Amino acid sequence: MSATFLLDGQPVSFEPGQTILEAARAAGRYIPHLCWHPDFPPHGSCKLCIVKVAGRHVSSCAMPAKEGWEVESDTPEMNGERRALLQMLFVEGNHFCPSCEKSGNCQLQALAYDLEMMTPRFNHFFPDRPVDASHPDVLLDFNRCIYCELCVRASRDKDGKGIFALTNRGIHKHLVVNAESGRLADTDFSADDMAANICPVGVILHKRVGFAVPIGQRTYDEAPIHLVAMRPEAAGDD
Ligand code: FES
Repeated sequence: MSATFLLDGQPVSFEPGQTILEAARAAGRYIPHLCWHPDFPPHGSCKLCIVKVAGRHVSSCAMPAKEGWEVESDTPEMNGERRALLQMLFVEGNHFCPSCEKSGNCQLQALAYDLEMMTPRFNHFFPDRPVDASHPDVLLDFNRCIYCELCVRASRDKDGKGIFALTNRGIHKHLVVNAESGRLADTDFSADDMAANICPVGVILHKRVGFAVPIGQRTYDEAPIHLVAMRPEAAGDD
């Protein structure tokens, strides 16, 4: 018999080594997340997957499950913490959802709706981040970066190219292209790369297809992220 823990009072089975998030997903239970992806080790940067165990807050994507634990996730307290984290992400970058090509397919926006974020709460930073439209097939809009490093990890570990990196720290942290010019056109980046198709927000955009699916008919327009993320076909890209 496999071990179990309680997630919001309901038993969840797990195998040794599985994290709380992995075990919950395997049991059909959704825990919000942004930087976690099933093809990569936990990154632990966004903290949206925060849960409470024995009075402590932990990142469920990185914390191995333990027999008998009582884990709180979908509670007013935890969702309030997640809303504050989302609000910080929204003010750190320039997120203008109504004019963003990714609207309706963006996980940051979808989580904000799901967690009922009503206001930005904090003062906007309005960072100055020019776009890079140099590549023939892909536009980079750095304004929407949430520092999940999924493009960094995909390009380095799956595509074998190392096109992207984060540079600087704190409020000066930002995504850069590994080319002397800093331009995507001066790399061997391809629209078929995993890195070109993994951004959970609207930084890496394929050109000429932005509105092929009209706003209102997109993934998270049709269903909330807590349902979409648990579909079998979403296992590799939610
Ligand atoms: Fe766990 Fe981002 S999903 S820290």
